[in-house]
Amino acid sequence: MDEAVEQVRADYDAAPYESHAYPESAPGRLAAIAHLLGLDTPEVSRARIVEIGCAAGGNLIPFAVEHPRAHAVGIDLSPVQIEQGRLLVEAMGLDNLDLVTGDIASMDLAPLGQFDFVICHGVYSWVPEHVQKAILPAIRSLLAPKGVAYVSYNVYPGWKSKEIVRDAMTLFGAELKTPQQKVSHARGVVELLDDVAPDGGVLATALSDYKAFGGKADDYYLLHEELETFNLPCYFLELLERAGGHGLAYLAEARPQVMFAGNYGDKVSERLLKESGHSQVLMEQYLDFVVNRTFRQTLLVHGKRVKHIRYQLDRKRWGRLYFAAQMQPAGGPSRLDDSPQEYGAPGDLTLVTDDPVVKAGLDAFTARWPWTLTRQELTDTVAARIASAGADDTELEKRIDDLLEYLIFRGQVHYRLAAVAPEPAACSAMLRLPEPIRRMAELTRGAAEAATFNRWHETVFPTPVDRYLLPLLDGTRGRDALVDALLDVAREGLIWFQRNGKRVADEAELREALAEHVDAMPQRLAELKLW
Ligand SMILES: C[S@@+](CC[C@H](N)C(=O)[O-])C[C@H]1O[C@@H](n2cnc3c(N)ncnc32)[C@H](O)[C@@H]1O
Repeated sequence: MDEAVEQVRADYDAAPYESHAYPESAPGRLAAIAHLLGLDTPEVSRARIVEIGCAAGGNLIPFAVEHPRAHAVGIDLSPVQIEQGRLLVEAMGLDNLDLVTGDIASMDLAPLGQFDFVICHGVYSWVPEHVQKAILPAIRSLLAPKGVAYVSYNVYPGWKSKEIVRDAMTLFGAELKTPQQKVSHARGVVELLDDVAPDGGVLATALSDYKAFGGKADDYYLLHEELETFNLPCYFLELLERAGGHGLAYLAEARPQVMFAGNYGDKVSERLLKESGHSQVLMEQYLDFVVNRTFRQTLLVHGKRVKHIRYQLDRKRWGRLYFAAQMQPAGGPSRLDDSPQEYGAPGDLTLVTDDPVVKAGLDAFTARWPWTLTRQELTDTVAARIASAGADDTELEKRIDDLLEYLIFRGQVHYRLAAVAPEPAACSAMLRLPEPIRRMAELTRGAAEAATFNRWHETVFPTPVDRYLLPLLDGTRGRDALVDALLDVAREGLIWFQRNGKRVADEAELREALAEHVDAMPQRLAELKLW
């Protein structure tokens, strides 16, 4: 094996990556974005998917769980991570997920066959150059004709100034060996340069950008970004040129809201749209300069499919989608009249409307959150509410479509080609979470970063007590039984509560604290989108 690759393998074997779910790479999301832009993809529930550089499979497990008839394969260089993943896959009882050890640059991919979705997250920019060069041809050979690939990577121009800081952190101190030594050296260099950087200069700007995000990041993040041995950003256009060289072409970003110039103000939108003609790619490259973008999550397809892509949203295609959003009104319930009201997440109000149809639509979404509604279900719910309020229902469907368009443009709505709905047997008195979600919470609760996932392919971090509570939510226990079961766990010393800085020892007080915790659970589950 090549020396540099061998070094990467040894690094990941020695310090395995935290392997989690990345919602932007969820095949259901990729299929829905492709649909929105005019492309059909294979059915997600029976798809074959592969992830290059899957670590311990944390991004594949939620997919395999959600789609038992689909098949997933993960490839990673590090046998230690693959073995960790296999143990978890076995303990979860999954028979539709295979994890294989291999170097993407040198392994024979043909026996794996082709895949409807190919994912490569957090790998492309962080490997030796010859491995980077092998990734796009590998994607090309693994991708089925109607498939979609996802690749994430660091981009310029944002990384130009980040490289100043990275260079400063890594130029000196070659003798430092342990991760802890490297991190404290790096933080020390930043402190020193921050003290001496002339006001308003390039260094001061680079440091202030770094401090705005990287400075607050934990050691783990720093080690895998600024301090990573390999970190090879490129421009968006360069990535697409390289992809084009292997017969792949641009479809979209996994967060489509970043593709729309209109989200960056009228001046930016007017000038860039004019300057780029009809080239979506050129316009987005200019946008990267405007926003100083550092990272992209790009979706690629076979070049032959480009002629079917439409960057103008076609409302007719929305009939097949399932949408979910959460936008609460500020300052009391919605008034179904034409007075202006603000909506959004608490502390992040983003939409002001005086349209009662929009208000009723947002209420319908929020009432259903985190589960989906079709456009038709949304329309029916809104129509009934508008009728009972005697509000104006002129062009109701168009107003619903305007709302959907706004939410899609702004990235404030989730959408899929299949419903995301709670377990049918769920009943509010005896909560029942899907078995794999309970199992995952149980299997990972001892980990330092105990994480599980939700139905939206998001990583969620239950509280230490919830790591024991989630596995108990199998639909057989009411509130008192849950409190009793948790009390047993507390007696074993595995969970505890503190009051006024002291650990609660008195049993009656402990029971009370646990009961409060159980009572507040539906709220926490809703926040984690588990319920
Ligand atoms: C930064 S981690 C990202 C892991 C995971 N995709 C994520 O984002 O959580 C990079 C992963 O790529 C794997 N990797 C690096 N070089 C590779 C190669 N040549 N072939 C296959 N996997 C490789 C590493 O072992 C590591 O698990």
